[in-house]
Amino acid sequence: MGKDVMIACDFESAEKTYEFLDKFKDVKPFVKIGMELFYAEGPAIVKEIKKRGHKIFLDLKLHDIPNTVKKAMAVLASLDVDFCNVHAAGTSEMMKYAVEGLTKADGSRAAKLIAVTQLTSTSEERMQKELLISESLENTVMSYALNAKNSGLDGVVCSPLEAGKVHEVCGKDFFTITPGIRFADGEKGDQVRVTTPAKAKELGSDYIVVGRPITAAADPVAAYNRCVEEFVG
Ligand code: C5P
Repeated sequence: MGKDVMIACDFESAEKTYEFLDKFKDVKPFVKIGMELFYAEGPAIVKEIKKRGHKIFLDLKLHDIPNTVKKAMAVLASLDVDFCNVHAAGTSEMMKYAVEGLTKADGSRAAKLIAVTQLTSTSEERMQKELLISESLENTVMSYALNAKNSGLDGVVCSPLEAGKVHEVCGKDFFTITPGIRFADGEKGDQVRVTTPAKAKELGSDYIVVGRPITAAADPVAAYNRCVEEFVG
C-alpha cells in the first residue's frame, strides 16, 4: 500500500455522510469511520461505504480485557474493512489477542491492525501527572510502537512529528497513520501540534488523516485534491 489521504468522516448520520461522499465523482477517497458515525449508524454504514467502493479505516480504538477485544475483533473482521485499531495501552497481551480475533481460518488477516499510541490530545504534562508515566511522551510513543510491532500489529497512529522515529525504531514497512493535519493557511481548531500535508510527507507519514480541513471546506473536493497533491505529489 502506498501513501494516501484518509478523510475523517466525522458526521452524525448516514445521510450527511452520503451527501458528503456524493460530491466525489471521479475518485473514491479512503474513508475513516470513527465512533460518532459508527455508534449512530452501526455496521450498516460500513457495509454501504464499502459497497460504494471506498477503502475503510474503522477507527474504534478498542481497549478492554484481551478476551473481550479478541471477540470484538472477530466481529469487526466480518465487516471487511481495510484497517481497524486498538489502544496500545491495553498492553501486548491484549494486542496479541486482537490479532487472533482478526485472523481468518486460512491464517490470513481480515484487516490491517493499527495501535493508537498516546492520543495527540494528551500532553506530556498530563500524561506524567495523571497517568503517572514518568518517561517523555516521545519515549512512550516509541515504546508503545515497539510493543505493537512485537505483538504482530501493522502500524500505529501517531503525530507526523513522530513518524520518522517510529520508522527508525520499527522499520520502514510499519505503517504510520497521522492526524493533526492542517493547511498552512487554515484553521487549527482543537488540534495543538499541527503539520501541513507537505510537511507530513517530508516527515515520512504513510497515511494522513484529514477531517475538518476537507469536510468543512467550501469546496471539499478541491481541498481533498490539494491534500493529495501536497502529500502524494
Ligand atoms: O478534523 P480533524 O482533521 O482534526 O480530524 C482528525 C481526525 O483524526 C479525527 O477523526 C480524530 O478523532 C482523529 N484522531 C486525532 N488524533 C489522534 C487519533 C485520532 O485527531 N491521536
